[in-house]
Amino acid sequence: MAATGTRPRVVLGVCGGIAAYKACELLRRFTESGHDVRVLPTQSALKFVGETTWAALSGNPVVTDVFTDAHDVPHVAIGRQADLVVVAPATADFLARMVIGRSDDLLTATLLTARCPVVIAPAMHTEMWEHAATQANVATLRERGVIVLTPAIGRLTGADTGIGRLPEPGEIFAVAQTVLARGGAATLDLAGRHVVVSAGGTREPLDPVRFLGNRSSGRQGFALARAALARGAEVTLVAANAALPDPAGAKVVRVGTAEEMRTAVLEVAPSADAIVMAAAVADFRPMTRAASKLKKGDADPAPIALTRNADILAEISTNRGRGGQVIVGFAAETDDVIANGRKKLAAKGCDLMVINEVGEHRAFDTEENAATILGADGTSVVVPQVAKESLAHAIWDLVVARLAP
Ligand code: CTP
Repeated sequence: MAATGTRPRVVLGVCGGIAAYKACELLRRFTESGHDVRVLPTQSALKFVGETTWAALSGNPVVTDVFTDAHDVPHVAIGRQADLVVVAPATADFLARMVIGRSDDLLTATLLTARCPVVIAPAMHTEMWEHAATQANVATLRERGVIVLTPAIGRLTGADTGIGRLPEPGEIFAVAQTVLARGGAATLDLAGRHVVVSAGGTREPLDPVRFLGNRSSGRQGFALARAALARGAEVTLVAANAALPDPAGAKVVRVGTAEEMRTAVLEVAPSADAIVMAAAVADFRPMTRAASKLKKGDADPAPIALTRNADILAEISTNRGRGGQVIVGFAAETDDVIANGRKKLAAKGCDLMVINEVGEHRAFDTEENAATILGADGTSVVVPQVAKESLAHAIWDLVVARLAP
């Protein structure tokens, strides 16, 4: 491998699927942010994107077999030195070969010698992804501690759509960065767990063009989803009006209103090990929703009559889906922050309450956040102003400590 100093070493495996071209963008993101990347395409990947492209973009030699440069024993050297292996796209055939432990090319041989975290981003047609053989292979890899990102739903090779699309390169990169930052396979402490995260802010329509809403951007909830994915969880993200791309590997359910969020959360709650309600859910909605745009007319405006929305957090805390489920709420407060947060924790009946002090330039639509996390068991953890990703990990640390074995 090239001399790298302290640059993180990433192995980028690329398999023979149409999404191989998207791996060029992923490679660029790694190299431009200072990673030393060794690209290991399979033979069939080269039918989609040629060796020259990988070599030029990575600045490293590109080899597919274990016999070239045999004096360096490349599969051992590359595997041992890697800080992270990412395979994107991974085909059904590759997953099968990896499960059996084949070593018939440099990529599979390297995976047998690597001891660093491994992130796999499968992409294939829906039928191939849903086939029992592929699902069994994915389950086996996850049991072994490999982070297998669930493919996105969307346009596939032809005009067809469905699950099987490679997540956006920027989102695969975000998961990879989180995994690298935490380092070591020991941090896959959410492997085998299903977590549900709600994010964003609900909008309660008055008419077809107007709504009552709030300033939540969804960033904290999306950071929670990404952090959980990087810790090996299966993630369902229920997102309300968040203008953010789907985190790679998450099942994303987009909703608009509080009622839609309630339906989506209640549907997945029974199978969840943990639920984090980071969304800003409207407490009230207009009593009526006009079918046509309201006209201002000449008369003074009538007050808007409101009715109460169901409290999703209180509902899921009362009707726990399964024993040992951990439920987390968020409290956005402007005054008597801790006292109000403590009251809210008791009233809602959840296990943890993340208390944010909010106001102009605080918490909303920013990259950073500070919080006090209160536990129903009397614990209190203060997290200073940090990146939302770091606060997300602090929350998952507390969730993991409370999960049933
Ligand atoms: N929440 C919910 N369903 C609602 C309202 C809120 O599940 N209808 C959840 C939020 O996702 C958050 C927590 O409850 O996790 C706290 O929400 P917040 O609006 O701050 O609390 P409220 O109980 O509405 O109290 P208040 O508005 O009086 O501060």
